[in-house]
Amino acid sequence: MKLKIAVLAGDGIGPEIMEQGVAVLSAVAEKFGHEVSYKEALCGAHAIDEVGDPFPEETFQACKEADAVLFASVGDPKFDNNPSAKVRPEQGLLAMRKKLGLYANIRPVETFDCLVHKSPLKDELVRGADFVCIRELTGGMYFGKKQEPAVNADGVEDALDTNYYSRPEVERILRVGYQYARARRKHLTVVDKANVLASSRLWRKVAQEMMGEYPDVTTDFMYVDNAAMRMIQDPRFFDVIVTENTFGDILTDEGSCITGSMGLLPSASTGSSTPVFEPIHGSWPQGKGLNIANPLAQILSVAMLFEYFDLKNEGKLIREAVNASLDQNVRTPEIQVEGGEKYGTKEVGAWIVKYIKNS
Ligand code: IPM
Ligand code: MN
Repeated sequence: MKLKIAVLAGDGIGPEIMEQGVAVLSAVAEKFGHEVSYKEALCGAHAIDEVGDPFPEETFQACKEADAVLFASVGDPKFDNNPSAKVRPEQGLLAMRKKLGLYANIRPVETFDCLVHKSPLKDELVRGADFVCIRELTGGMYFGKKQEPAVNADGVEDALDTNYYSRPEVERILRVGYQYARARRKHLTVVDKANVLASSRLWRKVAQEMMGEYPDVTTDFMYVDNAAMRMIQDPRFFDVIVTENTFGDILTDEGSCITGSMGLLPSASTGSSTPVFEPIHGSWPQGKGLNIANPLAQILSVAMLFEYFDLKNEGKLIREAVNASLDQNVRTPEIQVEGGEKYGTKEVGAWIVKYIKNS
């Protein structure tokens, strides 16, 4: 297969983990006889610094022309504490999602047995937890009508975000949820706040109408506050969660930390144009340049990329290599066992590449 990949390394630890992601992608491609070409493009804080735009037109074109985007992370502390900054690195990510029509964000929450002791939850609660959160990614408060903080006619400073959803937006993401549920344990949990929010009542109404089309799937409904609680009390309850943008943002951070390390979870965003594959963690500016960032989420994002194109064996080999590295304690410092040898970002990546080449 021929694959054109747009490479958006972004900020912070992004370029370091991307280097390992690309090395793994190339090693797998070589092994299976795929022809891969790469095009690097700017995004995030360094794009603001270089061209004044966190998602420049040139980057958009590179993404549109590619078969897939491999994305690392964006964000820089110099913008975080400046609420009046005119442009922010995160706007680059949001622009990418919107312009590429990436309405479905797939975030698998899988536990690795050898890391369960790192979870803040009790071993017996979290072991075996395995669910996918399908987060709507181009609607809701993120993109609804906004008013930045300003003094209103009554002399009071106010601000506004609108949680807008239309029926087609809800329907298409629910269908993604059902497809995933069908391919898994056939249990879909629609997470909303229908006891309070009108937009959530639309979600629930549409889901109730659609559930008859999927009689093989058990559909249940859960308020988001309850879902947040259930996720730490009984994470194995869940198979597929489908939810709106903001709830999905919050729940997936919670989901990732119960597995023991945020540095391990990949994600895919799909929709009407080029799909994007990226770790769910951020740019970790404190770790930048220190060769300590965990490259596994980026590497597993490459596995998701191959799987998207139905290249299952390619994805499987990457997962096997990642599991082997963990089993053999080839781990970055945050998950290394006490007294274990120290491996950096580069060394973990190199070990995995070697594993792939020798297998
Ligand atoms: C995520 C991130 C982004 C989001 C930020 C960086 C804009 O937290 O991908 O979950 O809120 O969607
Ligand atoms: Mn988030």
